[in-house]
Amino acid sequence: LWLAVGIRHRQPGEPMVENGFIPYLGCALQFGANPLQFLRSRQKKYGHIFTCKIAGQYIHFLCDPFSYHSVIRQGRHLDWRKFHFDTSVKAFGHDSFDPRHGHTTENLHQTFLKTLQGEAIPSLIQTMMGHLQDVMLKSDTLSPRKEHWEVDGIFAFCYKVMFEAGYLTLFGKELGEDKCQARQAAQKALVLNALENFKEFDKIFPALVAGLPIHVFKSAYSARENLAKTMNPENLSKRENVSDLISMRIILNDALSTFNDLSKARTHVALLWASQANTLPATFWCLFYMIRSPDALRAAREEMQKIVDDSGLTVDPTNPSLSLTREQLDNMPVLDSIINEAMRLSSASMNVRMAKEDFLLHLDNQEAYRIRKDDVLALYPPMLHFDPEIYEDPYEYKYDRFLDDSGQEKTAFYRNGRRLRYYCMPFGSGVTKCPGRFFAVYEIKQFLSLVLSYFDVELLDPAVKVPLLDQSRAGLGILQPTYDVDFRYKLKSKH
Ligand code: HEM
Repeated sequence: LWLAVGIRHRQPGEPMVENGFIPYLGCALQFGANPLQFLRSRQKKYGHIFTCKIAGQYIHFLCDPFSYHSVIRQGRHLDWRKFHFDTSVKAFGHDSFDPRHGHTTENLHQTFLKTLQGEAIPSLIQTMMGHLQDVMLKSDTLSPRKEHWEVDGIFAFCYKVMFEAGYLTLFGKELGEDKCQARQAAQKALVLNALENFKEFDKIFPALVAGLPIHVFKSAYSARENLAKTMNPENLSKRENVSDLISMRIILNDALSTFNDLSKARTHVALLWASQANTLPATFWCLFYMIRSPDALRAAREEMQKIVDDSGLTVDPTNPSLSLTREQLDNMPVLDSIINEAMRLSSASMNVRMAKEDFLLHLDNQEAYRIRKDDVLALYPPMLHFDPEIYEDPYEYKYDRFLDDSGQEKTAFYRNGRRLRYYCMPFGSGVTKCPGRFFAVYEIKQFLSLVLSYFDVELLDPAVKVPLLDQSRAGLGILQPTYDVDFRYKLKSKH
């Protein structure tokens, strides 16, 4: 009977196992309701590592941060590709990127590193800064004034500004840099359409990762296909100022893959999703916490003002052409800390690897556990992020938590008196660590710098509660708030 319902017996040397009470689902419902609480209670019961059956899959959760390295380093027993490539296929519907499946020989990882990091950064940040100022001050998206407060939701504000600027930075403009008003309006409509489709599709993303077929969700399916239509090879070829990432992917899709046009377009939708799905809620949390904490807002304003003064930059909303160099952005420890602290409190990405074969996993305390082929090993960083031994008052937002005594980035965090190598992991880890992480932080910093430079901002209700995190996306990245928070903004009267 045990075998018939697919329940696993723990073998000697294996982690303790919890099959849950529901066939197939196992512990999925308890885990889904509150992953952190679920994992903590199991950690108390079983120790550093234990196994749970979740939706048919046996997952070993490793909870000891000093042992993370044994999963993060790219050991020969662990495969990172299978899970990632399969998930992308399930969600976006393109042919597989796994070279073992024979549809492409592109080394996607290399493409990302070349086009999102190092020498690729200066042009990405320059383009982004231009688009951010266009959206905030030149277009009719916000139309801020000096004498009049505009009221908006912080979430809504961040979504429209960051989506448009980020989208144009990566995918360029379909109708070019045309000054004609009608064409500009048409260009705007295209972006707004893309944002609506993105939101409709993004809503059901957790369900797709969980394995539900997209056809069950009619409007999300058509939203994804609408996005793909705008990115088919013919439409993409018309765009101007396309980023290196997308230009290179177009070339490599053509040169190295057997993907048809629809599959090619869907690979671009996957990148649109990767570039926006975490950045948008992350920007919300950064702006929300910064506005809500008077100390954070003051310190951030001072940091920004110093850069403007030291480098003689002009902040003029009638001619918005502020530009920060990479070096200037690299020297903003207060904003870095504000961003890290917001991400610590809102990120919930699961770091996953798959066992290629039976093997022994060695933990930091010299214990070793037998892991079976095809089992999944997972790290859940919120266990670190909310650990009171690592972060005092872990549920409090402290804007300067990541600043040391000299006001520079703090990197020394401890548990049981031992310094931690991993303490803040919103971008994942090891070989699957987000390749867009540097650009992501730059773009959020640029966004905050511009808000600080051009606007006065206030919460409508200064005592507003911090919205709860929407746990339906736990495991997938930065969580969204369960509701939006209103604020008001106007152009600063003195520049
Ligand atoms: C993957 C986080 C912004 C591009 C990931 C992963 C995480 C993540 C957790 C998966 C890592 C893993 O599986 O271990 C974030 C966060 C962001 C952000 C928190 C913003 C705050 C961006 C941006 C871009 C980007 C702006 C591109 C412009 C990607 C890509 C992948 C990825 C391409 C897939 C990499 C692969 O499978 O090889 N990101 N990301 N991300 N991210 Fe980001």
